[in-house]
Amino acid sequence: MTKLRLGVIFGGMSAEHEVSIESAKQVIAHVNQDKYEIIPIGIDKKGIWNIFTLEKFQEMFQEHLPSLESLSERFNLQDLREIVDVAFPILHGPFGEDGTVQGLLKLMQVPFVGADVLGSAVGMDKDVMKRLFRDAEIPIADFLVYHDHETIDSASVIDILGLPLFVKPANMGSSVGISKVKRLDELAKALEKAFKYDQKIIIEANVSGRELECSILGNINPRASLPGEVVPVDEFYTYEAKYFDRGGAVFHLPAKLDAPVIRRVQEVSIQAYQAICCLGMARVDCFLNDEGEVIVNEINTLPGFTPLSPYPKLWEVSGLPYSDLIEELVSLALNPKRSSRGLPASLATPS
Ligand SMILES: Nc1ncnc2c1ncn2[C@@H]1O[C@H](COP(=O)(O)OP(=O)(O)O)[C@@H](O)[C@H]1O
Ligand SMILES: [Mg+2]
Repeated sequence: MTKLRLGVIFGGMSAEHEVSIESAKQVIAHVNQDKYEIIPIGIDKKGIWNIFTLEKFQEMFQEHLPSLESLSERFNLQDLREIVDVAFPILHGPFGEDGTVQGLLKLMQVPFVGADVLGSAVGMDKDVMKRLFRDAEIPIADFLVYHDHETIDSASVIDILGLPLFVKPANMGSSVGISKVKRLDELAKALEKAFKYDQKIIIEANVSGRELECSILGNINPRASLPGEVVPVDEFYTYEAKYFDRGGAVFHLPAKLDAPVIRRVQEVSIQAYQAICCLGMARVDCFLNDEGEVIVNEINTLPGFTPLSPYPKLWEVSGLPYSDLIEELVSLALNPKRSSRGLPASLATPS
């Protein structure tokens, strides 16, 4: 049997480069090698694509993180289709999770795991994502959007959203550039910080309650895992807590919740997934507010796959082991009915 060549694409130009390498190591460790030939493809911090042998990858990334450039072979992107049958881009943040790499793979006619260009791009932009949620009548926190050329009247923002509130760059992740503002005089500094990362920011009303996460898997008929809960030790779930401080948050995988709440989280998470046209997988993050309502916070279309990451863990506790998850993600990527967009008109059936 000829093995399918699975290109695992990792690294990338975003701040989450190292996280991506950790995710790729785990994915590679769990791939069924009887069925797949693994082709590791690393994007360095300058955006150069490099190809590795599996042996080289394993040797390089055992303990340390060498510069990707020094130890691998560059290749022509045009050749991608000759090198891999299916790709698993395991890149987080801008230039990887935002539809750019997905667009390139699509142009090269390489099937790939995860959301297509549209879902990836929308999932990266908190403003557009939340407008689609609002349109689908999915419960979300009230929010306002500003561009860097606009004047922001702090008093009226607080009049509308109350305190505390959250200020976030529209296109980021990993809590980078996010502040929780408790007093009027803290707002200006929070705005300045968020605008360092993006020309567009969102200001959001605080949701007081529990923070839940739900893993979604599938194309047109996705299913939801049991929800998990993250309990940040700090004021909120910060960058430090996510990546550096293993004690910065406590996870309950699965979360202790009553059955109707579990069902509600799963239902709302699937609605959110479909509202932004996700495919393959995503992790939906919600709040269970003090009134018992489920409020959607955001979607991550390329969730982490590290040993600490909730996405694969939630599937594991829902009865789907890591290796089977990878297998299913690849078969979802290869499904010819993955999306009617891009199919020849004769095959696309109106629904
Ligand atoms: N409206 C909100 N109410 C309460 N907490 C929030 C709110 N928005 C964000 N947070 C806190 O900030 C963290 C990061 O915000 P999030 O919108 O998820 O950004 P990122 O994409 O960077 O993860 C959340 O995990 C949560 O702890
Ligand atoms: Mg988040």
